[in-house]
Amino acid sequence: MFLNKRLSIYKNKKVLITGHNGFVGSWLTASFLKLKSKVFGISLKNQNKAYRFIVNKKNSNLVEFIQDINEFEKLDSIIKKIKPDFIFHLAAQPIVKIGYEHPLNTFKTNILGTSNVLKSILKNKIKNSVIVTSDKVYLNKENKKFFNENSEIGGDDIYSASKACTEIITRSFYLSFKEKFNHLDTVRAGNIIGGGDFGTNRLLPDIFNSFHLKKSLNIRSPHSIRPWQNVLDVINAYLLLPVYQKKRLKKFDFWNVGPDKKESNIRVIDIIEN
Ligand SMILES: NC(=O)c1ccc[n+]([C@@H]2O[C@H](COP(=O)([O-])OP(=O)(O)OC[C@H]3O[C@@H](n4cnc5c(N)ncnc54)[C@H](O)[C@@H]3O)[C@@H](O)[C@H]2O)c1
Repeated sequence: MFLNKRLSIYKNKKVLITGHNGFVGSWLTASFLKLKSKVFGISLKNQNKAYRFIVNKKNSNLVEFIQDINEFEKLDSIIKKIKPDFIFHLAAQPIVKIGYEHPLNTFKTNILGTSNVLKSILKNKIKNSVIVTSDKVYLNKENKKFFNENSEIGGDDIYSASKACTEIITRSFYLSFKEKFNHLDTVRAGNIIGGGDFGTNRLLPDIFNSFHLKKSLNIRSPHSIRPWQNVLDVINAYLLLPVYQKKRLKKFDFWNVGPDKKESNIRVIDIIEN
């Protein structure tokens, strides 16, 4: 799985992952355990059924905290105690539909919760941090052009707006306290697929559930083209960011992670039919 020898920088290092027991967080946690890091996870009580299949909870290199990132004092005291070498911030309300149902909670966790993480990163002088957002942070002008990192930030629905705000507040924290940050990145991936995704209103879990439960499948935009990517490819990209941070001149940067333009841009309907 890990082709890059530079990932050995993580061996015996303390890595804190927020959202460690979610779909992407589970694979990231398992990856760091494989790289022999000391892994600390902060999440809400686990609701993802796949976590226990992906992560060996008995691994002595794993320490878990059930903690809401919206509670700054408690979050900060955990981070202060651990003093991690690396923080990967994934904890979020990540579902578009839930954003419509619970807008305030989505804004709270994705904006204020992230602000708490950033404040604690600053306060505890954490050297390397990666803030996970989404490809939904961009303003969708419906002009079928590909987004690059300098495309305009927008976000029409609540979830997308909350993630666009995550980008803005991370940049603002950096610009406001530049000299206090060492390395900080935001990373924008989307349409992540792979084992262990039980998210509601996501295409592949919905397809499997409709087969399994013999229920009809409701698809909102069957002709939309999406850049699907495997969770392990996305994780490889996340892992490489801090590896190359040291070689970069910029202390703060933001990155898209996506598949090759030609290969993985597939219509929703083609995935269902195949
Ligand atoms: N899965 C995708 O396709 C996708 C695409 C783009 C971006 N992302 C981003 O990746 C990250 C992980 O997404 P996922 O698909 O693994 O989601 P998930 O729902 O499987 O996991 C979310 C994680 O966040 C934690 N969490 C939620 N609210 C919290 C709170 N208040 N305090 C502490 N922990 C909290 C949960 O306990 C869980 O561990 C999110 O930031 C999401 O926006 C995911």
